[in-house]
Amino acid sequence: MRAHVITYGCQMNEYDTLTIHSELVAGGHEIVDAPQDAELILLNTCAVRGKPVEKVVSLLGDLRKERRRGRDLTLALMGCLAQLDEGQAIARKFDVDLVIGPGAITDLVPALDAVERRRSDAHASAPGGVERLHFRDDLVDHITPPPPAGTQTGFLTIMRGCDHHCTYCIVPTTRGPEVSRPLEAIMHEARAMHDSGVQEVVLLGQNVNSYGLHDPTLPSFAELLRLVARVGIPRVKFTTSHPMNFTSDVIDAIAGEPNVCTYIHLPVQSGSDRVLRRMAREYRRERYLEIVREIRAKVPDVVLSTDIIVGFPGETEDDFQRTVDLFDEVRFEHAYMFIYSARPGTPAHTHFDDMPREVKTERLGRLIERQKHWALEANRRWIGREVRVLVKERAKDGHYVAGHSDQNHTVLVPADQVRRLGLHRVRVDHATPHTLYGGVLGEREGAVELRLAS
Ligand code: 5AD
Ligand code: SF4
Repeated sequence: MRAHVITYGCQMNEYDTLTIHSELVAGGHEIVDAPQDAELILLNTCAVRGKPVEKVVSLLGDLRKERRRGRDLTLALMGCLAQLDEGQAIARKFDVDLVIGPGAITDLVPALDAVERRRSDAHASAPGGVERLHFRDDLVDHITPPPPAGTQTGFLTIMRGCDHHCTYCIVPTTRGPEVSRPLEAIMHEARAMHDSGVQEVVLLGQNVNSYGLHDPTLPSFAELLRLVARVGIPRVKFTTSHPMNFTSDVIDAIAGEPNVCTYIHLPVQSGSDRVLRRMAREYRRERYLEIVREIRAKVPDVVLSTDIIVGFPGETEDDFQRTVDLFDEVRFEHAYMFIYSARPGTPAHTHFDDMPREVKTERLGRLIERQKHWALEANRRWIGREVRVLVKERAKDGHYVAGHSDQNHTVLVPADQVRRLGLHRVRVDHATPHTLYGGVLGEREGAVELRLAS
């Protein structure tokens, strides 16, 4: 079949989409770029908050209309939503043919055959589609081929699942317990990316610092980081980290390996110990600050970002102020800030939550303002300095090309100064809270031709 995958959510899902592509191609299917050309549409979904679920429901509504108008289309629901009762109910409502959980991707092709058999079996009477919801052991061994030539950033999953049980989070249910991928599989993918000219590899996991914790034959995350760094890809990034497992050896590896990016995403979720306890985060504010102090002392020019949940049930104004204070203390360069979204099936879902929506929105607004203030101050310190920028695509408005620095700043440079994708030396001349602007000083060897036609 001609297949098209639509991806929602995190980078883990983007990597899973590459695995889905490779499974489909190995099974004799063809990947098409445009959804309207597809006979099979697969939705690789996210369930971490309510919004991404709403998006999937709305798209499924549109696709159902097209089918009713006579379009011959097979539909598959995949990713985190597929694993939940909520997702399975949605799949039934919209006549989805195939529901595949994130741990069962390698069952996709046989499950598609089962859908075909069902269709051709005149006696098939059971309603609903084909479901594969178990967590397969072989998924961690599955080798994802390197991305197509010219790709600048490669995603590499090193572990799957999560053993933490933060009370707001659906991920342990959707992605199952932590499993580390074998070292050989990771190194194989890293070398293949290096050989195909990838300029930046992002090591992925729900909790990358837990790598190897459950298997004594595997290296620790810090050791793995050093091994991957020495493959020679110009940049190595990783996400996401849990403060609980963010040990000194990881900080030393970042400080010691020149191609490991000096950008660390370290979700704190709240600055209040009372809220952290109710979220079942296993650290407290002071421990988090201790880690930040060690990072800042050992890694010069490090850029820190975090995740925050505003309006967790029972969060008082006082608790919220502790989060604002934490921002004033850490001065995060970047933060992903979310209003709490109750997810059915999580422990916090049953918490009494009587905080009006306006209070949550107002708190979020205040925090965003605070963060902007510190981000602008931090970004201004880069004016006049040289940064190394990876340009991956042309900017949409055509005047600027966007790239990312080694510290993960978004950097815009005039489009007419950039003839190739890849790494560039850029002098920063202007800063806003979210963006640095600069001029190109030179290209790094190995950059590939930019396709201006797009
Ligand atoms: N509501 C709001 N934000 C959430 N996150 C996870 N679960 C929820 C939820 N129920 C946020 C956390 C996490 C990020 C990926 O998403 O901040 O770090
Ligand atoms: Fe969710 Fe917590 Fe696991 Fe992150 S560490 S995936 S927030 S349960």
